[in-house]
Amino acid sequence: MCGIVGYIGEKNCVDVLLDGLSSLEYRGYDSAGIAVFENGEVETVKSCGRLVNLRDKLKSDGAPISKCGIGHTRWATHGKPSDANAHPHSGSKVTIVHNGIIENYVDLKNSLQEKGVKFISDTDTEVAAKLIDYYYHNDPLAAIKSALSRIRGSFAFGILFSDIPDTIYAVRKDSPLIVAEGDGESFIASDIPAVLKYTRKYYLIEENEVAVLTKRGIRFCDFDGETIEKEMQTATWDISAAEKGGYRHFMLKEIYEQPKAIKDTVSPRIIDGKIVFDGIKDGEFKGISQIHIVACGTAMHAGMVGKYAIESLARIPVNVDIASEFRYRDPIFGKNDYLIIISQSGETADTLAALRLARSRGVKTIAVVNVVGSSIARGADHVIYTWAGPEIAVASTKAYSVQLSVMYMLAARIAFENNAIDNSKYTEFCSEILKLPEAVSQTLAQQENCQRLASIYQNAHSLFFIGRGMDYAVSMEGSLKLKEISYIHSEAYAAGELKHGTISLIVEGMPVIAVATQRQLVEKTVSNIKEVKARGANVLLACREGENGVGEADELIELPDMPDIFMPSLAVIPLQLFAYYMAVLRGCDVDKPRNLAKSVTVE
Ligand code: M6R
Repeated sequence: MCGIVGYIGEKNCVDVLLDGLSSLEYRGYDSAGIAVFENGEVETVKSCGRLVNLRDKLKSDGAPISKCGIGHTRWATHGKPSDANAHPHSGSKVTIVHNGIIENYVDLKNSLQEKGVKFISDTDTEVAAKLIDYYYHNDPLAAIKSALSRIRGSFAFGILFSDIPDTIYAVRKDSPLIVAEGDGESFIASDIPAVLKYTRKYYLIEENEVAVLTKRGIRFCDFDGETIEKEMQTATWDISAAEKGGYRHFMLKEIYEQPKAIKDTVSPRIIDGKIVFDGIKDGEFKGISQIHIVACGTAMHAGMVGKYAIESLARIPVNVDIASEFRYRDPIFGKNDYLIIISQSGETADTLAALRLARSRGVKTIAVVNVVGSSIARGADHVIYTWAGPEIAVASTKAYSVQLSVMYMLAARIAFENNAIDNSKYTEFCSEILKLPEAVSQTLAQQENCQRLASIYQNAHSLFFIGRGMDYAVSMEGSLKLKEISYIHSEAYAAGELKHGTISLIVEGMPVIAVATQRQLVEKTVSNIKEVKARGANVLLACREGENGVGEADELIELPDMPDIFMPSLAVIPLQLFAYYMAVLRGCDVDKPRNLAKSVTVE
């Protein structure tokens, strides 16, 4: 949800800002803009649409010459995408870029308007800019402090004061922001990939802290100017991880990175036939009576697989919730409950709120997160990092796969610690999961088949995905992937539920993608395939090679054989590839689907 950057150093600031924004465009691409100091004055240039429009404008009108400035790429929340609503926004002396939402912006706007302040955009950000401006009387920290004391909501701000040249102020609350240090240069950014080309050294900034970036370096202080010492972090991500590396799209690259991502996530944690999570002591999960898994979108779908895995192995009840529902439904927690939060970004607003809710009720929490040091990672009692590296495509693929791997490992560890599986079953599980990366590699060989299938179905107006048990959970993910990037309507249905209403939508030629990998359910799903075929559906079946019932399908995707529990990791691969090729064939912008952003830091 919006990306912000800032730079001060000896390089051409406009180039560095544009570079950073191109790495952050996955966070939103409705408009882009920069504000830089040029000869002691703040120059602002912005443009509706993708970053390329801003680049073109800077090329045709001439780019300012500067060594210090801020930039923004927008995912519209308040006000449609337009030049006027594009960031940066300014008051008379204050210019800001913002990621987040000012919840009480209407009240603040009214009160400023009563004092004669004029507005030119529909955004909440302009209100924040003008509020800081209102309080600014030569003391930037005091102005920021007064403004923030009135602001309700989430924000990461980069702020310029026109009479304090070559200085950037940065603050945050509930929206991500890092402050990075290079050689004689400093940066702010919403995410690490924006600065990786220049430095790996960065600081995490907390609520009620201000970062002040000048030519002399970075200073952290509180609102009263007291210096705060902070520990420097080092990014382990490689710059190549955030580049396409010869692939046409990030999504395809990330699909192909899945075997390695799973290996990196699983292998170091399997030690002597046991599952070891850093910082989580033996017996941590003993005596759990109920588990809540909370997440959004694809991460929630990984949670659905997690539910089946935990319930079948550990025999402990699991509720899976969509974070935006969970946080407002006053959930019921028991004394020995545990909450598992899943998030790639670690910044999803609803998921973070769900985590805080559970903690405020005294529930133990564990976060399964990909971005190191993110708010969710820092907010939970324990964190299990997924080592997928940066996921840039808006459509999540490798993050889902590593989330599944962690769910399997958690299921086995919880089962073992609660005596639901014995030592030999635990050891066997550990040796089987180590085979997963290779099986995923083999499944990627379905690429050409998926491309061919996409060319058959590319003109479909609507599709169904069906499956039972874990296959239903995977179907949900396959359907989301397809909708998200190819804009084709699709629905995922529990295969046995179709005849309770939805089967009325099955007409001649309707594509139905069936997933049948769970041994004791295959026959049942095959019956459902027969039912839709009898009504004219064209069925594409994903199942193990040589499975009974393959003859019922019109088209086939064959999967390697693994124990049932791991089959979601294999079944999802062709569904991701199918969605990818459908989107490519339909001319969609695969990595940046319309209306979406990678990290949803607003409600
Ligand atoms: O960063 P998170 O894992 O918390 O994000 C959750 C969802 O927004 C995300 O999985 C979304 O559904 C994906 N774009 C789907 O591909």
